[in-house]
Amino acid sequence: MNLILLGPPGAGKGTQAKRLEARFGIVQISTGDMLRAEVAAGSAVGREANAVMEAGHLVSDDILIRMLGQRIERADCVRGFVLDGFPRTVPQAEALGVLLAGRNQTLDAVVELQVDAPALVERIAGRFTCAKCGVGYHDSFKRPLLDGVCDVCGSHDFVRRADDNRETVQARLAAYQRQTAPILPHYAAAGLLHRVDGMADIDVVTQQIMAVLDHLPAASAARGVSP
Ligand code: AP5
Ligand code: MG
Ligand code: ZN
Repeated sequence: MNLILLGPPGAGKGTQAKRLEARFGIVQISTGDMLRAEVAAGSAVGREANAVMEAGHLVSDDILIRMLGQRIERADCVRGFVLDGFPRTVPQAEALGVLLAGRNQTLDAVVELQVDAPALVERIAGRFTCAKCGVGYHDSFKRPLLDGVCDVCGSHDFVRRADDNRETVQARLAAYQRQTAPILPHYAAAGLLHRVDGMADIDVVTQQIMAVLDHLPAASAARGVSP
């Protein structure tokens, strides 16, 4: 099953993608995480992307399309994937269509998480993640059960993203409106777009997404049951 999770910064793409990964045995492909790994490694791509990401702008289509093309070739994509943060521009959406057609694959659904701008800023400004296992937390909405200790791995180290501040968030929201939102009509016209209320609680959002996906033939196949 091949899915796209679309939505502005802080909409909950990463949070929900992890749940879909667990439920359907598909792999989360977060282009933001991939770029941050390149930055951390100090690679040529990372050096080019670093300042662009810190300013809240989009990294070039060339880099992203090449990166995504290589990623979906990997063996862990055999059961499918959930794209988190790609495509983000019309050329990226077109390139994805070409990449999938070349592999005789199709998209099963595009889920858009809809969240108000003030809520997005609040979510992003409060976000932090475990430095060891990468699980996400939030100062107000999702604190660790024990302060300062990761629920999942017990680590005491947490990190905040360099682009998670109120100023950069405005640039990221503007980039979404200007460059990413124009791809929505394309998927709506193809009958693939499903809109979900991303303002609801995390578990309720998951339930809404599952309700959409449970109707897809590919979801039954992914769970190994007949439709
Ligand atoms: P990327 O890493 O993709 O960031 P983003 O799109 O800005 O989205 P976020 O990761 O900030 O938010 P999210 O939707 O994953 O929300 P999350 O689940 O964490 O991209 C970063 C940068 O990389 C871009 O700005 C760009 O420069 C570059 N880039 C990446 N891909 C690119 C591409 N294809 N082309 C060009 N450039 C690219 O949730 C947020 C917080 O809210 C968390 O704390 C969470 O716990 C909380 N939360 C989640 N859901 C809820 C809920 N329902 N209620 C309350 N709180 C919630
Ligand atoms: Mg994310
Ligand atoms: Zn952890």
